[in-house]
Amino acid sequence: MTPACVADYRDAARRRLPRVLFDYIDGGSYAETTLAANVADLAALTLRQRVLKDVSKLSMSTELFGQTLSMPVILSPIGLGGMYARRGETQAARAAAAGGVPFCLSTVGVCSVEEVAAAATAPWFQLYMIRDRGFMAEILARVAAAQCPVLVFTVDLPIPGARYRDHRNGMVAVTGRQKLSQALDGLAHPAWLWDVHLRGRPHTLGNIAAAAADLKALPQFWGWIGRNFDPSVTWKDLAWVREHWDGPIVLKGVLDVEDALEARRLGVDGIVVSNHGGRQLDGAPSSIAALPAIAAAVGDDLTVLMDGGVRSGLDVLKAMAAGAKACLIGRAWAYALGAAGEAGVSHMLNILRQELRMAMSLTGCTDVRLAGRELLNL
Ligand SMILES: Cc1cc2nc3c(=O)[nH]c(=O)nc-3n(C[C@H](O)[C@H](O)[C@H](O)COP(=O)(O)O)c2cc1C
Repeated sequence: MTPACVADYRDAARRRLPRVLFDYIDGGSYAETTLAANVADLAALTLRQRVLKDVSKLSMSTELFGQTLSMPVILSPIGLGGMYARRGETQAARAAAAGGVPFCLSTVGVCSVEEVAAAATAPWFQLYMIRDRGFMAEILARVAAAQCPVLVFTVDLPIPGARYRDHRNGMVAVTGRQKLSQALDGLAHPAWLWDVHLRGRPHTLGNIAAAAADLKALPQFWGWIGRNFDPSVTWKDLAWVREHWDGPIVLKGVLDVEDALEARRLGVDGIVVSNHGGRQLDGAPSSIAALPAIAAAVGDDLTVLMDGGVRSGLDVLKAMAAGAKACLIGRAWAYALGAAGEAGVSHMLNILRQELRMAMSLTGCTDVRLAGRELLNL
């Protein structure tokens, strides 16, 4: 069956990937209330159907931080991408480059920034604050040397969220029994076993391999994050990041108007209104619910992006109408990568593009940059 939408890629990823990996992508924290709200609140927002507008010429492109995007979509940073497909981040980055949209590489990607830049184009880079500032300075120097155009500083993970599925599957700490069931599950997914487990090595975290020599297997991942991510990070550390990075800085994980105003006051270039895809504070509002007040409060002084629950081009237009300048997509690309590698991500981006075109045509929006609240039934 040819996937026709992101939900089809989700089903295909579920079939192709071992359960521990599918659940890591698919799941959220605690009862997954915020994860569900991200999707449900976008679905509940309705677009105004308008007719008899000349929609023969539509412009879907936009500009962010001096870069032209073919549509207002960015591939969100996703950890462990190289576990879902062979050298997964390079495949996704190539698909993004071919589709004319940015790919943002996670600090905890399998492929390093150098590997991704060589395979595709220099990605946006997502930064987590690790305790060892000397090592952080080295990473930022590497990111600059790779000519990454934008730094996305994720601020909603001072400590890792508790995700029940990861506990149940032995992703957090593995028992002997879970180890056995993971091995059997791996054998039950031979395509993944051949493509990723055998031919996709090394399975290290390329950007931080030097600081993570003690990180040898997947179940040690969360423990390493807990020991090495810096929970003492504050707004003051933004000055430290600024000292070590000349380009645009986007703060990812802002969900509150006061924080958005502080980000503006401190002169960041952009924010991502995000709850980490419902993987951190369960019970936090959905991103689409938080977006309008934040966009209204900060105005045009900084670039407001959003992510969380975006599964279609219709969702992209809704987010633009609610105040975002572009959307990041997380699970949508991870599912497509896990299901069908680079071709899957390319196809999924084409699906989003067609859906966005359709949504613009039927709301009478001819230039996506001008999408505003008049497109919504409020
Ligand atoms: C499997 C997975 C891994 C993620 N890893 C990271 C990460 O390393 N850094 C980060 O800033 N956000 C990470 N995120 C959050 C995404 O960047 C993004 O905020 C979220 O997925 C958006 O929600 P969506 O999946 O509903 O599109 C991750 C999300 C998922 C699903």
